Amino acid sequence: MRDSRTCDNRLRGIRRPGASLAERLVTAPSTRLGARPGERLEERPDTVQAAELGKHGGKPEESLGTHAIRPGEPLGRHGARPRQPLGRHAARPRQPLGSHGARPGKSLGTHAARLLTALEARPRVPLGHFPTPLTRLNNIERYLGRNHLYLKRDDLTGVSLGGNKVRGLEYLLGEAVSLGADVVITGGGLQSNLCSLTAAACAKAGLRCMLVHNDTRPESDAIAGNMLLNTVFGAQEVFLGPVSEEERAAAMDDFAARLRSQGSVPYVIHNGASTPVGALGYVEAALELLAQSEAMELHFQHVAIVGAMGGTASGLVFGAAALGAPFHVHVISVEYPEGELRRRIADLTAGIEDVLGLRPPVSPADVMTIHDRYLGEGYAIPTPESRETARLLAVQEGIILENVYTSKTVAGFLDLVGREDTRLDGPAACFHTGGMGALFAQSHPWPFCRLCP
Ligand SMILES: Cc1ncc(COP(=O)(O)O)c(C=O)c1O
Repeated sequence: MRDSRTCDNRLRGIRRPGASLAERLVTAPSTRLGARPGERLEERPDTVQAAELGKHGGKPEESLGTHAIRPGEPLGRHGARPRQPLGRHAARPRQPLGSHGARPGKSLGTHAARLLTALEARPRVPLGHFPTPLTRLNNIERYLGRNHLYLKRDDLTGVSLGGNKVRGLEYLLGEAVSLGADVVITGGGLQSNLCSLTAAACAKAGLRCMLVHNDTRPESDAIAGNMLLNTVFGAQEVFLGPVSEEERAAAMDDFAARLRSQGSVPYVIHNGASTPVGALGYVEAALELLAQSEAMELHFQHVAIVGAMGGTASGLVFGAAALGAPFHVHVISVEYPEGELRRRIADLTAGIEDVLGLRPPVSPADVMTIHDRYLGEGYAIPTPESRETARLLAVQEGIILENVYTSKTVAGFLDLVGREDTRLDGPAACFHTGGMGALFAQSHPWPFCRLCP
């Protein structure tokens, strides 16, 4: 079980106002891509445009379009006015698939079209910046003697300090708004990433936010990291003391009932947002990654992602299955042993199937492998390898990893792609899920360990 006093992270985030799903899948990944073998670095584009998408067939006159920001569009046309809920109709900018400036012969294929249609049928509040960049790890590649390693930069999702929860919050707040909610309640520990990103996303969407902590109120001079951000975003915070997650959930429901009796319409986000609706953001991420990988002609075969409560991984696994398994998903467990995480992912992918009304052509269980060997002594306890990985990414690539989720995940990814026995050939990517808010309250000595050269 997680220790909520250290890092019971449950947070979330925002998107480019007005972008439809199809549009956001094709706007440029913006980091330098690095050179392919036999190619000079300066020949590679910094960005990839929609014209390069769609090697999978589909209707000849269809493509997904190229625009980032429409010229002449009033700023904030799609966003919420401060302190005002978005209203029922703002939750989902509705645009049919293929209406975004088709180019001949370009489409993501039939599976992708079905998935996009199912996702577009869900209410969604655009909050963040998508697609997130794919950063090539040129220096780590040299260090490991391995080509084509990428980080999918979901630490740069564009709400607050970024992170994975932003994707799910688009769908959760979309559902909240479509139900007429005016206040969102969620819960977590003091350094919950979900809590602070929900506070930021609610600020953006014009919703009130109540955060229920299973912890005692810290002294004001000890407020740091996500706790500080919660205050900055103006969330109402409740401190229950050191109660269990079940008691916290019951208290959240009680607060919701009380608010309802006072005429409010609350929307409760349970389970650290690891719910079928909360996982939809990572179903979409599978589609986004496929579009990027087609555009960059990389054709990822292996993609690694964190597995804690399992919502994030379930979305990606379901998305990969719904797309007909264009890549295999390696779930790096940072909280539970393999069997427990497998059960959670199975429940969640079944729930996603119900929510989307879409049966994947491939079984989700067949597109993933769970790796629990990187867990070490448990949740939020760094391992020598995770410390070393955090150091390497910092000094070689200028990329920050935190100590609960991302350093273990990237450590697992680099081990898997580098080992002789598991060697995962071909282009490979790993999701960086953020957690930067929590990082500034983590007390672990920063990771200069003996493994370092
Ligand atoms: C930064 C970060 N990465 C990864 C995760 C794990 O996500 P999940 O619980 O959906 O497995 C979390 C969960 O809070 C998180 O905050």
